[in-house]
Amino acid sequence: MLNFSFHNSTRIHFGEGQIAQITREIPSDAKVLVIYGGGSIKSNGIYDQVSAALSEHQWFEYGGIEPNPQYETLLDALDLIKENHIDYLLAVGGGSVIDGSKFIAAASQYKDGDPWDILANNGRIKSALSLGVVLTLPATGSESNAVSVVSRGGDKLSFASSRVRPLFAVLDPAVSLSLSTRQVSNGVVDAFVHVIEQYLTYPVGAKVQDRFAEGLLLTLIEEGPKALAEESRDDLTTRANIMWSASLALNGLIGMGVPQDWTTHIIGHEITADHGIDHARTLSMILPAVMKHQRHNKADKLLQYAQRVWCITEGSDEEKIDAAIAKTEDFFTTMQVPIRLSDVNLGSDDIESVVTKLEAHGMVQLGEHQGIILEQSREILQLAL
Ligand code: NZQ
Ligand code: ZN
Repeated sequence: MLNFSFHNSTRIHFGEGQIAQITREIPSDAKVLVIYGGGSIKSNGIYDQVSAALSEHQWFEYGGIEPNPQYETLLDALDLIKENHIDYLLAVGGGSVIDGSKFIAAASQYKDGDPWDILANNGRIKSALSLGVVLTLPATGSESNAVSVVSRGGDKLSFASSRVRPLFAVLDPAVSLSLSTRQVSNGVVDAFVHVIEQYLTYPVGAKVQDRFAEGLLLTLIEEGPKALAEESRDDLTTRANIMWSASLALNGLIGMGVPQDWTTHIIGHEITADHGIDHARTLSMILPAVMKHQRHNKADKLLQYAQRVWCITEGSDEEKIDAAIAKTEDFFTTMQVPIRLSDVNLGSDDIESVVTKLEAHGMVQLGEHQGIILEQSREILQLAL
């Protein structure tokens, strides 16, 4: 196991009715800005629950954060914050609203130049506004991690700072019942790939991390399809298991002390930036190709994954790896997401611009051994056609 230091400071309030906790979580004298997306919270009762919990607080609201939050929309919030001396942000939404709020929290305190530097030039974040979260879409883990992903034109960039890690997060599985089938699928697949990218590298004797990761994968494989099936889509136990799995998938825990390989995400982000395809759907198309391309580098872990996650015990090592990749693709198909670029009408003509973007963003040495150079990324994209 590799050395690590672990600290996750986000307090989690999990379960039905827990939105009421924000009354106590946010100091009574705070000036709060409630940040949300395109308005789903107004039609599914979440806004009303948040309003009730904040009835004794002084609060303002800022809606309209888009999926894949746009830089300009986030900057527009800064005037409101300044004019009203806001000192606490409450993000109510999915990964986009939470990531956007993290950026606003940092940008509103950024004094060292253009806030774009936070994303594009590693601008140092010395302070940020306090941030709390009401999660409405289990997927990204953003509710208790330090990462934010922001888009501007054709760029989709990220930053990480412990100063924007939410102070608390409410995870009420009941709020996920209003999600569309597409968003439920996306969430399960995104969480699944987060686990894989911290697991499918090479063994370092990290038994606890491996078994946590395998437990999360097994839970997502079991519960994901249930959340799509007519007869069980409203089952709150299923929703609770998906919500907690997605949070644990990217709260830092399973990634401690192990090598990581974020190739699928890095290539996927460029595809979203180029073509606007949902984040999770880029991952479901790229991951099988990464597994195929890296099958020799990742052979030990692929065999462990085959045996422990998919119970594949028959055949040669090569056959077991083939079967594990096929099972992964079948799972994605069951979850109703594409597994080939051609499934979303992308072809070989679309590869070069993704490769060019990877180069422009310095993503030229990916993988747990930094061995996936641009030529290999191109090959992975070709395998995904
Ligand atoms: O905007 P509203 O009206 O709220 O509708 C949203 C949006 O249209 C809707 N939705 C959310 N909760 C709902 C709901 N609809 C009905 N009922 C509810 N309870 O869902 C749509 C998608 O929301 P979005 O927040 O975009 O989805 P997701 O949570 O998948 O977030 C995706 C973003 O997170 C980034 C992605 O790149 C993408 O920009 N990621 C962030 C990460 C992180 N911070 O650690 C890691 C991830 O790998 C990922 O990159
Ligand atoms: Zn993701």
